[in-house]
Amino acid sequence: MSSTEKPISKIIRERRATPSFDGTPIPEKDLKQILSAGLHAPSGYNMQPWRFIVVRNPEQKKRLRGASFNQAKVEEASVMIVACGDADGWRNGDLEEMLRMGREGGMTESYAAQAKETIPNYLSNHPNMPMWLNRHVMIAFTHMMLMAEALGYDTAPMEGFEEVKVREVLKLPLSYHVVALLGIGHLMGPDKHNGGRFDMARTVFDEEYGKPMRL
Ligand SMILES: Cc1cc2nc3c(=O)[nH]c(=O)nc-3n(C[C@H](O)[C@H](O)[C@H](O)COP(=O)(O)O)c2cc1C
Repeated sequence: MSSTEKPISKIIRERRATPSFDGTPIPEKDLKQILSAGLHAPSGYNMQPWRFIVVRNPEQKKRLRGASFNQAKVEEASVMIVACGDADGWRNGDLEEMLRMGREGGMTESYAAQAKETIPNYLSNHPNMPMWLNRHVMIAFTHMMLMAEALGYDTAPMEGFEEVKVREVLKLPLSYHVVALLGIGHLMGPDKHNGGRFDMARTVFDEEYGKPMRL
């Protein structure tokens, strides 16, 4: 961690969904660190089904804004990251690449042989592929959001977009699902109010449903 990076507890406490950005560009080394943080996320069988489209070009941001209910911050953000999941990555080389890297890191041949059977079985029959993709993509997305905040940027997660239009703007293949948009930049004007969070006793249960957790 560089001495200027914010600690995670502070980020979690103080992060707000940024209402407006000033558009100043992000240095490539910071962008690389943010993207890499996402790619370090965990995933089932290490299948890493996430895909990200990085949008910085002003014209492309304008088009993306048109696909996002005209939300101004899509155009104002220094970088927009469009987080997608690829339903067919595992069919198109990801499985082999995962096994190759795994072997390099010490995966046993018996695990690799089993994974080669189990994973295609599991994914070709998955009852809810969009949910499977969403589950993984949002972890990587959150890694990126928190890393951007750690580096001193402000962030805006967004689900306000029309998938059909986003697909068209970004020329996405059919196997891609658009999961969420992440705006990164520097806050312009006042920050959003803190909306607060439900008490733990409302949302966390102790051992079984119905027993509110109190710590
Ligand atoms: C997945 C997700 C999608 C969101 N979509 C939008 C959006 O499209 N537009 C917007 O203005 N805010 C959006 N938000 C921001 C939320 O409104 C905000 O996180 C929430 O009000 C809590 O505020 P806070 O993040 O500042 O604590 C989204 C947040 C998340 C996590």
